[in-house]
Amino acid sequence: MRGLPHLEPRSDGGYGRAVGWLALGWGIGLLAALVALFGLTVLRGAPYVPTLPRQIQLVLEQLPPGSTILDLGSGDGALLVAAARRGFEARGFEINPVLWLVSRVRCRRYRGQVRVRWCDYWSVPVPEVVDSVYVFTAGPYAARLARKLEAEVQGRAKPLQVISYGFPIPGREPLVRVGGLFVYRYGDE
Ligand SMILES: C[S@@+](CC[C@H](N)C(=O)[O-])C[C@H]1O[C@@H](n2cnc3c(N)ncnc32)[C@H](O)[C@@H]1O
Repeated sequence: MRGLPHLEPRSDGGYGRAVGWLALGWGIGLLAALVALFGLTVLRGAPYVPTLPRQIQLVLEQLPPGSTILDLGSGDGALLVAAARRGFEARGFEINPVLWLVSRVRCRRYRGQVRVRWCDYWSVPVPEVVDSVYVFTAGPYAARLARKLEAEVQGRAKPLQVISYGFPIPGREPLVRVGGLFVYRYGDE
């Protein structure tokens, strides 16, 4: 066409290369941020390791009908969804914003029945509405968890069932031990 300059693609590909480097930089930055986010969790509790579906079913079998369960460190919300499907009310506390967001999306169908809060569970007491707490943390936090639970059951109107996966809670005898779960009852001694 007359009047229009004839544009040749740049032979050195400089623009494309710059965009490529920029995308790579962003990708590496994002990956580093995610690694830091997931890694830093170990300073506050167990890192993200999901409970296996078989163990989730075992947890649900321990719950009294119609009860409310709180998952301390609720990860991607798998247990919350499974609990809701079985007709339980479920609450989750999760410190990792990415996992919190994922679980919010996963649980959106159960709005009202499931609530997930972005928080550090050391700073937030177990809500009074909760009947059972599920926790899958790391051994080094067991003693701190025992102190938190002992302090919080004081003055509670109803007993609290605590189900710990993978480690016993120091200073307590479990009522039940099954499939790696330790089941306790607080508040009616
Ligand atoms: C071992 S994973 C268990 C995840 C989930 N409960 C499950 O069973 O699939 C521990 C979870 O606790 C979260 N977490 C660790 N410390 C926490 C804290 N202080 N407050 C809230 N969440 C915490 C981690 O981000 C992680 O998602």
